Amino acid sequence: MPLREETIRAGLTTRRIGSAIHLLHEVDSTNDEAAALARGGEADGAIVIAEAQRRGRGRLGRQWQSPKGLGLYLSVILRPAIPPHDAPVLTLMSAVAGADAIERTTGLIAAFKWPNDLIVHGRKVGGMLGEMAVEGSRLLYVILGIGINVNQAEADFDEELRQTAGSLRVEAGHLVDRTAIVRSFCESLDGWYERFLCDGPPPILEYVRRHCLTLGRQVTARSGDQEVSGLAIELDDEGRLVIRDASGELHHLLAGDVTLTG
Ligand code: BTN
Repeated sequence: MPLREETIRAGLTTRRIGSAIHLLHEVDSTNDEAAALARGGEADGAIVIAEAQRRGRGRLGRQWQSPKGLGLYLSVILRPAIPPHDAPVLTLMSAVAGADAIERTTGLIAAFKWPNDLIVHGRKVGGMLGEMAVEGSRLLYVILGIGINVNQAEADFDEELRQTAGSLRVEAGHLVDRTAIVRSFCESLDGWYERFLCDGPPPILEYVRRHCLTLGRQVTARSGDQEVSGLAIELDDEGRLVIRDASGELHHLLAGDVTLTG
């Protein structure tokens, strides 16, 4: 069923998230649409949703497969008055809201794989792409993009993704209401954002630390040319993954690709 703005809005009790809802048919990327709206002055909490993306973007320049009417492709504009170095935690915040929305809508438990994967039954069902605009030392706005594979069947994924990707439909064994996911995501994000504005990053980091399946595992992390292997021991106060390598040296990673090796 196509998404409808009135149905998403009906009964939405959020204070900020969904203050404006831009529901579009097909776009290159909802993150790009949201950034264009933010440059034009669109308010804190406005969201952009598309039924399909022609050039959905994942991290590290990857593509995010965005077939029409099957997934959730949503970007939020935020304008918190915070220094740019606090902004990466907001991407974790959107992961928390995504996991919450998945659980409340389907009963499936989604775990986090640092830095931005939502995993159900060992398969990636969602991902986050946080982007920001900065002028000098001032944060102008943040775009939080979330993609959730909702009603894809296995055959809807390209061959190379079939081993690792999952959808809520496949994992739950039934079709899932995308409107319910959107509303639940907005409500959860609204609560977490309010907390962030009052208390800063600690509550989000605390939550992610408790639900992050990367921590306590042997990992290999790649970031640019750098590759580090070792034990993922903690998330530091900036949301960076701390890896202790075999020689005991600590590496703090802000971004990267992590493979669990043990
Ligand atoms: C990842 O796992 O690499 C991040 C995927 C993020 C995908 C979402 S879909 C909505 C928003 N628009 C985009 O182009 N990307 C994000």
